[in-house]
Amino acid sequence: MGKWKHAAVAAYMFMVVAALLSGCGHGERTAGETKEPVPEYVLTYAENQADDYPTALGAYRFAQLVEERTGGRIQIQVSTGGTLGDERAVIEQLQFGGIDFARVSLSPLSEFVPHLNVLQMPYLYNDSEHMWRVLEGPIGDEFLECVDSVGVTALSWYDAGARNFYNSRRPIETVEDVKGMRIRVQESELMEAMVEALGGEALKLVYGEVYSALQTGAIDGAENNWPSYESERHYEVAPYYTVDEHTRVPEMQLVSAYTWNKLTEEDQEIIRACARESAVYERKLWAERSQASEEKIRRSGCVVTELSADEKRRFQEAMMPVYQKFCEEDMDVIDAIVAEGK
Ligand code: GCU
Repeated sequence: MGKWKHAAVAAYMFMVVAALLSGCGHGERTAGETKEPVPEYVLTYAENQADDYPTALGAYRFAQLVEERTGGRIQIQVSTGGTLGDERAVIEQLQFGGIDFARVSLSPLSEFVPHLNVLQMPYLYNDSEHMWRVLEGPIGDEFLECVDSVGVTALSWYDAGARNFYNSRRPIETVEDVKGMRIRVQESELMEAMVEALGGEALKLVYGEVYSALQTGAIDGAENNWPSYESERHYEVAPYYTVDEHTRVPEMQLVSAYTWNKLTEEDQEIIRACARESAVYERKLWAERSQASEEKIRRSGCVVTELSADEKRRFQEAMMPVYQKFCEEDMDVIDAIVAEGK
């Protein structure tokens, strides 16, 4: 090959390589005829409920809004059903950026930030409206900020209704009926103390293991809201459900501080706004699902027990030591929360 031919081949090769490289790194890739944006960030989101559950649908809505409003620059991949780990493990992963986003129950989060226990004290709120008044006001804002101390940033509140006891043995009609029952609780000292205050034996267990523990008789019962009881099919193996509403445990959408600090202020604003919008959507879905789950359970032949007013008072009184143990230093906040319900 002559000298000039060599030079021409080299120049041609240079052009080909340059053309290939120019297609990369500019935020665009050619996919057939259309040009799809290449995301700048592909972020993970952990959710431990099933795909059709209100919190999971909220997560999908959040991911969709973020993708739309960043023109595809930020993509959030939602993993449902606890595939990224149980809640405690997920919180730990958020702390070092192994997972970017998650929706978690406040109970396991309180093991990292004990101050959050205040918001889930037994029989604290009169009803859902009371809780939301608190969460959406200055008290709620202060609690959103307090998780910063453990390397996560709170984006919004999600609803999870009120929790009730259920079991496979007998209807719980009085405090005495709880005595001696082995009851699963979330990974939380507070939840453990609540069951013990009623005379039950508390056993901490991750959410995904509750069904089989009920089925094998390793535990007699558990406690949760209507949608979880129905969605996880616990009602099949623990058909006695007592509507005592001993606690309302709100939930938070969180982002790892590690991830958060990599984003521009503009992107942070977008993400916050999308999280809040997804939370409004989740609350609406929550109300619908809660009602649908309750109706399904009542039709299914489960024994649903309502506590008499007197008995409910006895449940409340039995919880007094729990307040002494967990909130002695926060009685001013408790008083402010109670005042919101008047
Ligand atoms: C609720 C909550 C879950 C939590 C579960 C539990 O279902 O939404 O996040 O894991 O309670 O009892 O562990």
